[in-house]
Amino acid sequence: MSEKRHAVAIEVNGVTRTGEVPARLSLVDWLRDELRLTGTHIGCEHGICGACSVMLDGEPVRSCLMFAVQADGHRVTTVEGLANPDGTPSVLQDSFCETHALQCGYCTPGMLIAAQALLDAVPQPTEAQIRDAIGGNLCRCTGYQQIVDAIKHAAARLARKTGSESNFEAL
Ligand code: FES
Ligand code: FES
Repeated sequence: MSEKRHAVAIEVNGVTRTGEVPARLSLVDWLRDELRLTGTHIGCEHGICGACSVMLDGEPVRSCLMFAVQADGHRVTTVEGLANPDGTPSVLQDSFCETHALQCGYCTPGMLIAAQALLDAVPQPTEAQIRDAIGGNLCRCTGYQQIVDAIKHAAARLARKTGSESNFEAL
């Protein structure tokens, strides 16, 4: 007997995507395999590493721990959705490049999602808030310092653009 499928309509990076999914299909598998949004990575598949992080209605979530059907009617942002509308890297993404905040890059999509969620909620965070925001994301390569530096640098650049005060100097 074939598995029952369920209709979903999920806004992904600003576009409503529809489909029919098995109840047990994870959100990350739907994003990667059905929508071909392969920027979201799969690491541990049990909620530990954060590589699969996406935003659900603006909050970072583990997409390996959610079923696609649970996202029905919600808004999902993947790492692809963080770029500028013309496809160029956002200030945050560019700051990761400028501070060498990635080596193998496996953790990077999840780190960017965690960082973007922080900057959306707290545009000028403290270093402690930055470390706390990425505390649930594992990186095996960088030692984390350059990732913290990237987020500080992005906050400073964004403050400069808006003429506001920052806790940090742009590099
Ligand atoms: S793959 Fe989801 S937390 Fe590791
Ligand atoms: S850059 Fe390799 S895991 Fe973070």
